Parts: sequence; structure tokens; C-alpha cells
Amino acid sequence: MFDVNKLRADFPILSREVRGVPLVYLDSGATSQKPTQVLDAERHFYETSNAAVHRGAHALAEEATDAYEAARQTIASFVGAKIEEIVFTKNATEGINLVAYAFSNATDKARQGIEVDRRFVVGPGDSIVVTEMEHHANLIPWQELCAKTGATLKWFGLTEEGRLDIQPGVIDSTTKFVSVVHQSNLLGTINPVKEIMDMAHAVGALGMVDLCQSVPHMPVNVHELGADFASWSGHKMLGPTGIGILWGKSDLLNAMPPFLSGGSMIEMVHMDHSTYAPAPQRFEAGVPMAAQAIGLARACDYLSELGMDNVFLHEQELTAYALEELAKIPGVRVIGPTDMRDRGSAVSFVVDGIHPHDVGHLMDAKGVAVRVGHHCCWPTCRRFDVPATTRITTYIYNDKSDIDQAVAGIKSAQEFFGSGIAVSA
Ligand code: ALA
Repeated sequence: MFDVNKLRADFPILSREVRGVPLVYLDSGATSQKPTQVLDAERHFYETSNAAVHRGAHALAEEATDAYEAARQTIASFVGAKIEEIVFTKNATEGINLVAYAFSNATDKARQGIEVDRRFVVGPGDSIVVTEMEHHANLIPWQELCAKTGATLKWFGLTEEGRLDIQPGVIDSTTKFVSVVHQSNLLGTINPVKEIMDMAHAVGALGMVDLCQSVPHMPVNVHELGADFASWSGHKMLGPTGIGILWGKSDLLNAMPPFLSGGSMIEMVHMDHSTYAPAPQRFEAGVPMAAQAIGLARACDYLSELGMDNVFLHEQELTAYALEELAKIPGVRVIGPTDMRDRGSAVSFVVDGIHPHDVGHLMDAKGVAVRVGHHCCWPTCRRFDVPATTRITTYIYNDKSDIDQAVAGIKSAQEFFGSGIAVSA
């Protein structure tokens, strides 16, 4: 196991004060903080090798291109992927959109009689399946696809406990695509994605897994998910903003029409038509985010040095502690599983008589940063009949004292609003 106190020294932001008190950062589900090693890697690139990647033949252009492709290899190895299966995107949302647009673009072309891979053609009578715990990034692109093509959107509902209610018949012979979150950013639930992907494949559908909240927190091998595609972002796993990953099986990536078009993604260009490069270049139009890729590769190395098994164990311990401590506060209700079975580190809760935003503000007054709101999961909140939640999300740099501070913040909110059983913090 790693030493939290020691590694906190790698994160300069964690030693600052907010509102006149030391910062307690419990919002890593929204974005993680960055170690100096990642910041240094980006700075080093700009100071020594900055040039436009995959363009030009001068020394810096060569070095920048080599560094960018080496970063792709490091990131691929981190999740057990092959280098050609890793596409750099702006963020996870763009990765999911890229796949959704492959379907709508292929469907448009098919309507015009242009030859396309039929696996990406959808229309009336076909269905796309998601779940009621998707964040908007893995819901709205599929709503849009259905609106454009006439396909029907279906979903797995949720149990009272906050787990998927995997009813037979949701995935059926009409299903063309299934997209499911691995770990819910609101409920913390870890889903049986392999089982769901197997169900998709059994009816001839393709499937995708949203890994935003799993790759940063647990060992993930993309080939073991049983999926065809997966997407996640760099900034939640110690990396920079502005970079996400789409993983896809090579034969599918190479059969998909492009998403964004322009320089770098081409094979041959004529005035009236063009042909496209193989994946991943086919999906990386324009000058790419080289410094971010290099920063993200450094983040992968940082996490590998800690060991992803250790990261997972550390967070399991913290989450169990958070659930235990929250259960002791009268008037606090956790939204999502309250035991540790198939559960990750996002802990959402509501406090009787106090709006979740007010709870968050009062916690912030104590220096405790948590997320409030619907967490980009509006339908999930509606399912549990809450307008919003307050959410604690931990990471490698948190320890039990951070949870204690969060608990003190919740109690101070209860005291301020005169609700619950007031307890001095
Ligand atoms: N999906 C991110 C979160 O859960 C933004 O906060």
C-alpha cells in the first residue's frame, strides 16, 4: 500500500487554504488534482520539443511526434490495449459522440445509396439500449442518434438499492447498440458490464462501456470488458484536461466513417473526394493535443507506480468508512448502495430538510470541496425522487481524516439549519 501523506506532497494544490481553512478535496469524481510529475511532463514538452505532431520533417516535429506516439503506447498498456486501438479525443463525451456520429453518418450515407458497413446503419424498428444511471454524456448522444434515425431508445431501470434491474427483453432482436456505464458517478454502483455486453453480442448488437469513473480508480483491462468500444477522460485520473480516450476494436474503428474531418485524418485528397487514413489517425483531425497526451501518459505511470490494485483497495477502505460514518448521522440518506458489494467511491447523499446545494455550501465554508447538483444524471435523481444530491468522491490523496472533515461539515449544516440532531463539530 502507498503512503498518502507522502504522496500528498506531489500535489501542490492540496496544501492551500480555502475560506481561511485547509482545503479538503473530495470532488475527484468531477476532476482529479494533478501531481507535479504530470505538470512537469507537460512543461518539459513545451520547453524542449514543442512542434505540431504528424506534420513537418524538422527535428522538433519528429521529437514531438515520437513523444505523442510513445504516450499513446503508455496509455494503451495501462488498460491492456493495442496502440492502434487508442484514439485521442477532447474528452470522454467526445469519444461517445464519435461512436454515435459513426452510426448517424453511416445511416445518412446509406440513405443516399453510398456503400457503408451495415453494422453502423440504424433506423425505425431498431433500438439503442442504455441505463437509467447514465450521466448525460452517455445518454444524450444516443437520444440524438435516435431522433436523427428513427431508432428507439430503451433502458434498464434501477432497483431501490441503486443497482441495475436487468430485465429480459430490454435487449432484444431489435437492438443494434448497447452503451452502459461501468461505475456510476452518482450512485457508485459497479455494473456487470461483461454480462451486459455478452447479452448485446448474443443478439448481434455492438456495445460500449463508459469508463470515466472506473479507469481512474480500479485496474481495468479493456479486452476483459467484453465490449467493442470504451471511453474515458484524462482529467479524472491525474491527467490534464482537454484529452480523453476512445478505445475500439480495430476492425470496427477501421470500418467507421470519420467524425471530424480535415488534416491528418486523410489518405488521399482530391478536389471532389478524399480517402481516409486507418484508425486511430482517421479520428484525429487537426493538430492534436500532444502536451496533454504526454501529461496523461505520465499520470498513467504515476498510477502504475502506486499499483491500481492498491488504488482500488485504498478507495474501498475510504468508501466503507464514509458509508459507516454517514450512517451514524441522523437525517442523512445515501442514494446508492450502502454496502461495499460491487461499489466504488462515489457516495451521494441527501440530508433531511436541507437542500443539497446548501449542504455543499456549508461544507465549503469548512474547506470541504464536494459536488452538489444532479451530477449530469438528471434522470437518475428523478428515479430516486431527489432534486439533487451532495456527493463525496475520494482519490489516492484522501484519507479518513478527510471523511471526518466532511462529516463535521454535514453536522455544521444541520446545526445551521436547525435540522436533524444537532451535534457540535
Ligand atoms: N461526470 C462528472 C462528475 O461526475 C463531471 O462530476
